Amino acid sequence: MNGRAGVVLAGGIGSRMRSKLPKVLHKLCGREMLLYPVETLRQAGVEYVVVVVSPSNEESVRSLLGDSVEYVVQHQPLGTGHALLQTASVLRDRADHLAVIGGDTPLVRPSSLKSLLDVHLSRRASMSIIVSSADMPTDMGRLARRPDGRVTGIVEAVEANGATVSQEVNGGAYWFQASWLWAQLAQIPIAGRGEFYLTSLAEMAAQQEVGIETLEVSEPSEVLGINDRVQMANAVAALHGRIRGEWMRQGVTMVDPTTTFIDASVHLGQDTIIYPNTMILGPSRVGSECTLGPGSVIRDSQIGDRCRVVASHVEGAVLEEDVEMGPFSHLRTGAYIERGVHLGNFCEVKNSRLGQGSAMGHFGYVGDATVGAGVNLGAGAVTCNYDGVEHQNTVIEDGAFIGSDTMLVAPVRVGEGSITAAGSVVTDDVPPARLAVGVPAKIRRSKRLTEKKR
Ligand code: UD1
Ligand code: CA
Repeated sequence: MNGRAGVVLAGGIGSRMRSKLPKVLHKLCGREMLLYPVETLRQAGVEYVVVVVSPSNEESVRSLLGDSVEYVVQHQPLGTGHALLQTASVLRDRADHLAVIGGDTPLVRPSSLKSLLDVHLSRRASMSIIVSSADMPTDMGRLARRPDGRVTGIVEAVEANGATVSQEVNGGAYWFQASWLWAQLAQIPIAGRGEFYLTSLAEMAAQQEVGIETLEVSEPSEVLGINDRVQMANAVAALHGRIRGEWMRQGVTMVDPTTTFIDASVHLGQDTIIYPNTMILGPSRVGSECTLGPGSVIRDSQIGDRCRVVASHVEGAVLEEDVEMGPFSHLRTGAYIERGVHLGNFCEVKNSRLGQGSAMGHFGYVGDATVGAGVNLGAGAVTCNYDGVEHQNTVIEDGAFIGSDTMLVAPVRVGEGSITAAGSVVTDDVPPARLAVGVPAKIRRSKRLTEKKR
């Protein structure tokens, strides 16, 4: 046996969050907190991962992670040492070195866990700990050392009783030599609050004079843990900073990074410029050479190359290349905007396709419609798609010209090259190359169209 395995501790109650939602399922930059440590283990080369869950979060954690990990239920929240002990049945004969990380510790980098393993193996340590000496929250455990630097234990904040503690915090991510660990876990003494602390293993290791090593993280935010919502906000801020940094290094310009928020699952293309107060959320993909913002929100959407989205909301939509929109327009779920479309201000599009090069310049609504190429939708044109009971479809064929303030009462079709006059209320289909005028609209032969044809 020379395998590695990992454990994520996600039992416990997370009471300091004051939330109905289990702590590890709160989202950070669009992804559940628990996905971060699981992913960290994977990227550090640990394939077999066991997640310790509580009876109250088991179901939701299982539905989040599925078959990708193994589960162990900790029936009572008796502390981190007790939580790890529960994994003995599935892990005892599985690996000779175990990585352990808190489910509420999302920022630890895979590279740090790997470096810690290098130290752990090369020094033949029994326990190795990620630490930071930066100024960190007071509720974290503190390393205690002898004058010669040897670790003598970890002092938990609740156990410190006002005694002076070191500045060096326990980051809550470890490697253990498995046979040593299994022999010790059941021996952890009960602490003041009736819990069995994983961190008591440090003192036990020191007393047995077995190897105990530490690795100082290069970036202190890596060890930020999340116990309450203030710490969560701090962790989210650090994650955002990391995400922004990565994209800027990939060639994305952010005019004001501090007001630019990009979720973890977003992809951005080179030479895209993001102006202030812009959020790009969910699994969104933005092409290259786009201009987003100021003041745009893009969620769960695909945006092609060279698009321009100014002060607008794009949700569940697809934009092909060279689309421009805004300020103040709104694409909703199922909007598919083909190449070269122009959407100006106060335009709303839902569950509709707008064909190549079509234009909708000023306030209007297109819902449940198929709009062809080269169509002009005049100011105030509306597809009246909802009769109070059902949604109905509208079709506007290529090259049609929808006059200002036209109401298209669905279901209705406007034929290729037809015109609707300003203010018309179109209740019946308009054949190709005709003119619809009036309320309700009458169909006429269009002089303009006849001339055009000649
Ligand atoms: C823990 C460490 C502390 C360290 C800090 C880093 C202990 C005793 N203390 O403190 O030294 O500085 O993390 O962030 O380990 N959990 C269970 N079952 C339980 C209790 C907790 O699975 O019975 C899980 C929690 O879901 C959590 C993780 O273990 O994800 C850490 O527990 P938590 O209570 O948050 O420990 P801290 O007080 O933050
Ligand atoms: Ca914690």
